[in-house]
Amino acid sequence: MNNDLFNPYEKLIRIEVLGREVLVPEKNSLLRCFQFLSLETISYGDFCWNGDCANCQVLCHSAGQTELDDKPVLACRTEVSEGMVVTRLSGFIKIEGINYKISEKVLGEKA
Ligand code: FES
Repeated sequence: MNNDLFNPYEKLIRIEVLGREVLVPEKNSLLRCFQFLSLETISYGDFCWNGDCANCQVLCHSAGQTELDDKPVLACRTEVSEGMVVTRLSGFIKIEGINYKISEKVLGEKA
């Protein structure tokens, strides 16, 4: 893992992504956290990382809220927080083990 990618952090915090609990580095954007979970797919994804493309849009709410409180946010512009719940990912966001499997990539390359 290339730690230069991430803002300095002291601990991992728990968030939920599409119903899966995961640990991600505090003090980082959601998109960096997705990269932490799935280095290859996010690193090579179609992302500007600076708020221009909107390919990183997700729906999410904070700890203690419900899906009724979901808001669309840009993952590259949103700092992660403990207990955050991400309920939708844009089609550009592929996270290994959550909405993407390496085997899909292999099958896709053969097709
Ligand atoms: S990655 Fe382009 S807007 Fe977030």
